[in-house]
Amino acid sequence: MDNAVASGIAGLVDLQTGTVNRKIFSDPEIYREEIERIYARCWLFLAHESQLPATGDYVNVYMGEEPVLVCRDADGSFNAFINSCRHRGNKVCRADAGNAKSFQCPYHGWTYNVRGDLIGLPGHSELYRDQLDRSRWGLPRVAKVDSYRGMIFATFDPEAPSLDEFLGDIRWGLDMLFDQGDLVAVPGMARWTMDVNWKFASDNAIGDMYHGFWTHRSAVLSGHRSGNGQASLQTLSPSLENGFTMVTKYGHGFNANFIDKSQVDRSSPLSDWRFDPAVQAKLGPLRGKVNRANMLIFPNLFVNTGSREFMLRRPMGPAKMEISKTILVDKNLPADVQRMAVRASNRHFGPAGMFEQDDGENWDQSTLAAQTAISQRYDLNYAMGLGFGQTVDDGASPPRIDTLTNEHAQFWMYRVWAEFMAAGSWPELRASAQEPRGRM
Ligand code: FES
Ligand SMILES: [Fe+2]
Repeated sequence: MDNAVASGIAGLVDLQTGTVNRKIFSDPEIYREEIERIYARCWLFLAHESQLPATGDYVNVYMGEEPVLVCRDADGSFNAFINSCRHRGNKVCRADAGNAKSFQCPYHGWTYNVRGDLIGLPGHSELYRDQLDRSRWGLPRVAKVDSYRGMIFATFDPEAPSLDEFLGDIRWGLDMLFDQGDLVAVPGMARWTMDVNWKFASDNAIGDMYHGFWTHRSAVLSGHRSGNGQASLQTLSPSLENGFTMVTKYGHGFNANFIDKSQVDRSSPLSDWRFDPAVQAKLGPLRGKVNRANMLIFPNLFVNTGSREFMLRRPMGPAKMEISKTILVDKNLPADVQRMAVRASNRHFGPAGMFEQDDGENWDQSTLAAQTAISQRYDLNYAMGLGFGQTVDDGASPPRIDTLTNEHAQFWMYRVWAEFMAAGSWPELRASAQEPRGRM
């Protein structure tokens, strides 16, 4: 794509008015470019290390549209390569997770080791006359793999900056989750599809504190509780007060609301960490007050620090995505309390989650309405609070905005989306990407 077309796409996000053209949620060519310019460049979440504790353990996941196998090597490092046989492209492994010494393609039997090297094929001597150079026909490896707090990420782009640079200040937000205890992933993963453009799910994750009171009102009124008294009309009320917003370079961010500890259900063991002095010392005064942060690791990982889930929204086309949900629990808690946490999480988010149903219905409708010719003439409004957000840099956190309900984080995501779409490479992107500072 030439630069004029790329900047035309980036121009569909209007930085002056806080508006976004609906085409970016429906146009197939823009979607293809997103795959190239965002998903082929960003560090993407693969799994949590606790899901692959032993040598040979693997998980079968996706990076954008690409099926990827992630395997733990004998030295403890992780290999990641595309799960598509070099012979006819078949998936060499179809199980979600397991332990293997090698992967044998079910079609004709080409066999790869846990690093993706081709180690054997039927008929190499007699049929291929010993002519096939196995060293050239391994499974394509990702460019880089690295971890932060047990979260394994990878990128296809050899020019990508380090994972630490890519995550930047959002690590302070991820620490808010991992400092709550010794968190490990629960075995098993729920997966389901929705007729939704992935960005509607991402912009909800990064900072839609406006929708809860309306979208989830019926769930709360019908008695839904997410586990320890967190879901109430009071905590869902939109307001400027009682929380803060953070956005960071390369599109990550969250909204966090504060909790009134006198309202916490102390009889629930799921609340104990909130009163543990060692945990509170790690979190510090600001994070120690947070009820839950709904966080986006750009482009498509929703991290919830309240009911402790990773929800990866995998793009499957302009109007389809698959969500895979992994729940985290504190491994030091008794088994029955861990089960309680899993049940609370599943009541809230997941294929049968009360809040999930509410959200999905709305994203579905937004996606439909982005596809119709007349509606497409009318931009969407992400301008709440535009010009009123002021970053505070007082040392208590990375720069943040001290209001709770706003659209700064959502619009920030689209600003960064436009940066990715306009840049021709990672070096260009590093030169052009904005730091969130000053008035927004
Ligand atoms: S497609 Fe894998 S061996 Fe033929
Ligand atoms: Fe929601």
